[in-house]
Amino acid sequence: MERMNRQILLVKRPLGMPDESDFKLVQSPLPSPQDGEVLIETHYLSVDPYMRGRMNERKAFAPPYPLNEVITGSAVGKIMSSRSPRFNTGDFVSGMLAWEEYSVANENNVRKINPDLAPVSTALGVLGMPGLTAYFGLLEIGKPQPGETVVVSAAAGAVGALVGQIAKIKSCRVVGIAGSHRKVKYMLDDLGFDAAINYKNPSDIRASLTKSCRDGVDIYFDNVGGDISDCVFALINDNARIPICGQISLYNMRETHGGLRVQALLMAHTATMQGFRVSQFADRFDEGRTQLAEWLRDGKIKLSEHIVEGLENTPKAFLGLFRGENLGKSLVKIC
Ligand SMILES: NC(=O)c1ccc[n+]([C@@H]2O[C@H](COP(=O)([O-])OP(=O)(O)OC[C@H]3O[C@@H](n4cnc5c(N)ncnc54)[C@H](OP(=O)(O)O)[C@@H]3O)[C@@H](O)[C@H]2O)c1
Repeated sequence: MERMNRQILLVKRPLGMPDESDFKLVQSPLPSPQDGEVLIETHYLSVDPYMRGRMNERKAFAPPYPLNEVITGSAVGKIMSSRSPRFNTGDFVSGMLAWEEYSVANENNVRKINPDLAPVSTALGVLGMPGLTAYFGLLEIGKPQPGETVVVSAAAGAVGALVGQIAKIKSCRVVGIAGSHRKVKYMLDDLGFDAAINYKNPSDIRASLTKSCRDGVDIYFDNVGGDISDCVFALINDNARIPICGQISLYNMRETHGGLRVQALLMAHTATMQGFRVSQFADRFDEGRTQLAEWLRDGKIKLSEHIVEGLENTPKAFLGLFRGENLGKSLVKIC
C-alpha cells in the first residue's frame, strides 16, 4: 500500500479567536526529494503566536498563509532519505517545515542538530527561536544591570520564562505576570522569580504590581500589550527600558485597540521603548545558542515544555496559546 502523508491546511481566515474549523486535516502522497533536497519525518512541531498574524489576509511582518495550503512553521525531524551531500539518513534537523508528518526541504533551509547535546525538541524552544528572542531581547534591548527590577508578561510561556531566568542569572529582581495560580506557583517555586502575579485574579493588577515593584520597574519585557502593559508602564523608573517583544492580547482583536498614550511617561522618565524581532540578531544566533546550551547544561535555566500528542491536535495546541493552556514551550509531538 502507498505510504501517505497527513497535513493540516488553513481553510478559513479566522475572525477574532481562531476556531478548529479554520483548519482541515488531509492526506496526500508522500513527497519525494529532488537533488539538493531531503525527506524529513517530523518529530516535533512548534506552535507560535506569530502564526496568528499570518492567518489574516493582510500582510503583517510576514506574508499571509495561502488558503487551502499546508501551514508552514518551525519543526524538528529525522532525515528519512537524502539527495544532499550535506545530510545523511538519520540526521536530526530543524527548520521552517510544515504542519505535516513528512516534509521535503532544500538543504539550505534546514540545520543539523546534535541529539546528544540536548533533547531535539529544545531546537524549537530554549535553543531555538523563543530562547534566542529572550536572550537577545533582554540582553541587547533591555540591558539588565544587577539589582534592577525586571517585569515580564506571559512570564510562564516559552519566551517569558526564559527572560525571567536570564534576568535572574544577571542578578536582577524578577516579577512575572501570567494567567493562573498554577503559573504563579511555577514561577516562584521552579523558576525562582522574586514575585509573581496572576493577572486574572486578583482583578486589581495595579495594586499587586505596586506591591511587588516597590522600587519601580527598570525593565518591562512586554509580551502581551493591552491593559496589562498599561498597568506596568505606570511604574517605570527613570531610564527604564521596554523591549516590545509581542502583543498577544491584541492578536485576536477585530478592532483597533485604544489604550494609554505612553509618550509623556517615556519623556518624563527618559525611558526607551523599542520593538524588536529576533531575526535582526540572526548573525549572532550561534553565540546565543552556545550560551543558552551552557546555562541549560549547568542547570541555570530549566527546560519546560507543554507537549500535545498527534498531528491532528496541532490546531488545538495552537488555540491553547490564546487560552493560556501552555506552561513553557508549546510543542506537538508527531512521532
Ligand atoms: N519579537 C519577536 O521576534 C518574537 C519572537 C517570539 C515570540 N514573540 C512574541 O512573544 C510573546 C510570547 O510568545 P511565546 O512563543 O513565548 O508564547 P507563550 O508565552 O509560550 O504562549 C502564549 C502565552 O500568552 C499568554 N496570553 C494569551 N492570551 C493572552 C491575553 N489576552 N492576555 C495576556 N496574556 C495572554 C498565555 O499565558 P497566560 O496564562 O499568562 O495568559 C499564553 O500561554 C508573543 O507575543 C509572541 O508574539 C516575539
